[in-house]
Amino acid sequence: MNYRHEFHAGNFADVFKHAILCRILHHLRGKPAAFRVIDTHAGAGLYDLASAAAERSGEWHDGIEKLLSAEISAEVAALLAPYLEAVSACNSGGRLRIYPGSPTLIRALLRPQDRLIACELEPKAHLALARNLRGDSRVKILELDGWVALNAYVPPKERRGLVFVDPPFEAGSDFSNLVSGLTAAHRKWATGIYALWYPLKGRRDADLLARRLGRAGLPKVLRAEILVAPLGDPARLGGAGMILVNPPWTLESELSAILPALIRVFGGAGEAHFSSGLACGGTRTERSLMYGLFPQGRSWCVVPYWQ
Ligand SMILES: C[S@@+](CC[C@H](N)C(=O)[O-])C[C@H]1O[C@@H](n2cnc3c(N)ncnc32)[C@H](O)[C@@H]1O
Repeated sequence: MNYRHEFHAGNFADVFKHAILCRILHHLRGKPAAFRVIDTHAGAGLYDLASAAAERSGEWHDGIEKLLSAEISAEVAALLAPYLEAVSACNSGGRLRIYPGSPTLIRALLRPQDRLIACELEPKAHLALARNLRGDSRVKILELDGWVALNAYVPPKERRGLVFVDPPFEAGSDFSNLVSGLTAAHRKWATGIYALWYPLKGRRDADLLARRLGRAGLPKVLRAEILVAPLGDPARLGGAGMILVNPPWTLESELSAILPALIRVFGGAGEAHFSSGLACGGTRTERSLMYGLFPQGRSWCVVPYWQ
């Protein structure tokens, strides 16, 4: 395990995934019944943006820093408020120095009755996570393989909640683990919400993922993607995507407001990438996943899978 999230914390892909994560949590808080979140690849929980790693990559300057200094509409500001308030709570004096990872954002949105299980396999990151989230009886931190946790901890006893799956994709197997892990977990807990992040460096892996999930026959899936740079360079993250199973019913329209705003902040890759990956055959469901992507001139998409 060589992946270290401190190089990438707060980049455009983190903003994208964390904004979606916080919308889902906001929705779960809408009912009094308790929920549980299982964060399978949790990372260290907090990231110092002045660290050598963050300084060296500088990725957060093009992510959270740009978002915080951008002018956004009142509608989008309201949708991003649960996320941006949690970021702000980790910083003082209006200065951005610490970026919260997924378990910290999740904890910020737990109520007394809610629970979080956060798994991290890399020993140093696990130690940091345990330190950063210590002293909260609602939170269980485990040094455990997230793919094992995905199967072992569903369904949670609350029968409401979210599984957040955010692997590092340093091993080629993570794309296929997403399909096998999700389909097995969904068989055990069909009503849970699942949010799976994936990188976009080219279209091949992402479109194969969509086709394989299409064949798995999950009934309610939303696919959201943004593109900020040309695809095709395997060393560069050009975009990011999320597969959202059983999404809150409001999420599609919320993302239709949030994603174009993020693209305006980050600068989208635009039309240049429109054509890639669209030529596919297959079932109607598979085609709607593919053909809906990046309509002319757009660098974002939200594609419901069940249309
Ligand atoms: C993309 S980072 C997670 C970032 C975090 N979810 C966030 O949003 O702040 C992926 C993390 O997964 C950890 N990891 C790698 N393989 C793992 C595994 N099999 N099980 C659990 N964690 C793993 C890595 O050490 C890394 O910290």
